[in-house]
Amino acid sequence: MRKRVLRMYRIVRKEVLNPAVKLMDIEAPRVAKSAKPGQFVILRIYEKGERIPLTIADYDPGKGTVTIVFQEVGKSTKLLGTLNEGDYIADFVGPLGNTMEVPKGAKKILGVGGGVGIPALYPKLKMLHQEGYRVEAILGGRSEEYVIFRKEMEAVCDKVYYATDDGTLGKKGFVTDVLKDVLENDKEVDFVITVGPVIMMKNVCKMTKEYNIPTIVSMNPLMVDGTGMCGACRIEVGGETKFVCMDGPIFDGHLVNFDLAMTRLNMFKKQEKISLELYEKEHGGGHHGR
Ligand code: FAD
Ligand code: FES
Ligand code: MG
Repeated sequence: MRKRVLRMYRIVRKEVLNPAVKLMDIEAPRVAKSAKPGQFVILRIYEKGERIPLTIADYDPGKGTVTIVFQEVGKSTKLLGTLNEGDYIADFVGPLGNTMEVPKGAKKILGVGGGVGIPALYPKLKMLHQEGYRVEAILGGRSEEYVIFRKEMEAVCDKVYYATDDGTLGKKGFVTDVLKDVLENDKEVDFVITVGPVIMMKNVCKMTKEYNIPTIVSMNPLMVDGTGMCGACRIEVGGETKFVCMDGPIFDGHLVNFDLAMTRLNMFKKQEKISLELYEKEHGGGHHGR
C-alpha cells in the first residue's frame, strides 16, 4: 500500500523569542500570496492532531513564507515548539477571517498590544506606516523579555511606548496606564487597534469608549472546526451571536461582550490540564513525538 505523504509545510526558520514564545516561518506560498493583516491560519502538526489557530504575524509573498508566533501554553503548542527548521507540519490552512480596516479620514493610529498580541498587530501597523499614516504603539508584557517584536515595531512606528508589570521596560504598570496618559495629552489619535489578552482588550476598549475613539480588537476564542459548523468560537457582539472563525476575528471593540468571552475561554481548562500532564509524562516535556 502506498503511504500518503502527510507532512507538507516546511519550517524554514525558527527563533526562540523568550522562554515561552517561539517564532516560525512556514513555507506556504498560497497563504503568503493572499494574506492580509489580522487574518489567521489553522494548523495541524500531524494528521490527527488538534487544530491550532494562530494569527499571521507577517508574510512574504516573494519568499512564499508566513510567520507565526506562538506561546507554549498547552500540549499542542508545546509539541509545535519541539519542531525545528527543516521539519514539516501536516496542515496549514488559511488565510482565514476578516482583516483590520481603518475608517476613512483616520490619520493617527494607535496600536495597543500585549504578549503574543504584539506580533498580531505588526502587519497592520507596518502597512499603515507604508501608506503614510502616523502610527504609534503601546506595547506591554510581564517583563522586558515578554515584550517581543520591539525592533520590528520600532521600525514601523513613529513612537513606541512600553509598559511592564515589573517596570523592567518602560512604565511600571499596564498598557492602559500608558494609554490614559497618551489619550489625555494627544487629541489627534483617531483610531485604536488592540490585540492581546482578553482582559487587556476589555480595559483598553473601556478607556477608548470614554474618549470616544473607535477601536477594533482581535478575538481568540476556542476554535474547533474553524468553519462555522461547531459553534465553539461564538461570542456576543452588540447583543448578537457571532462566530469568530467566520465573522471575525476582528470586531468593533466597543460592542464585544468580553466577560462572556473570558468565561468561554476557560471552559475546558480541566481537560487541557489533563492532556498536558499526559503529554509531559510521556515525553518528559522534552523531545518531540505524538
Ligand atoms: P491547551 O492546553 O489546549 O489550552 C490552553 C489555552 O489555550 C486554553 O485555556 C485556551 O485559552 C486556549 N486554547 C486551547 N485550545 C484552543 C483552540 N482550539 N483554539 C483557540 N484557543 C485555544 N496563540 C498564540 O500564541 N499566538 C497567536 O498568534 C494566536 N492567535 C490566535 C488566533 C485566533 C483566531 C485564535 C482563535 C487563537 C489564537 N491563539 C494564538 C491561541 C492559540 O490557538 C492557543 O493558545 C492554542 O490553540 C492552545 O493549544 P494547546 O493545546 O497548546 O493548549
Ligand atoms: Fe467552530 Fe467557529 S470554530 S464555529
Ligand atoms: Mg489543546
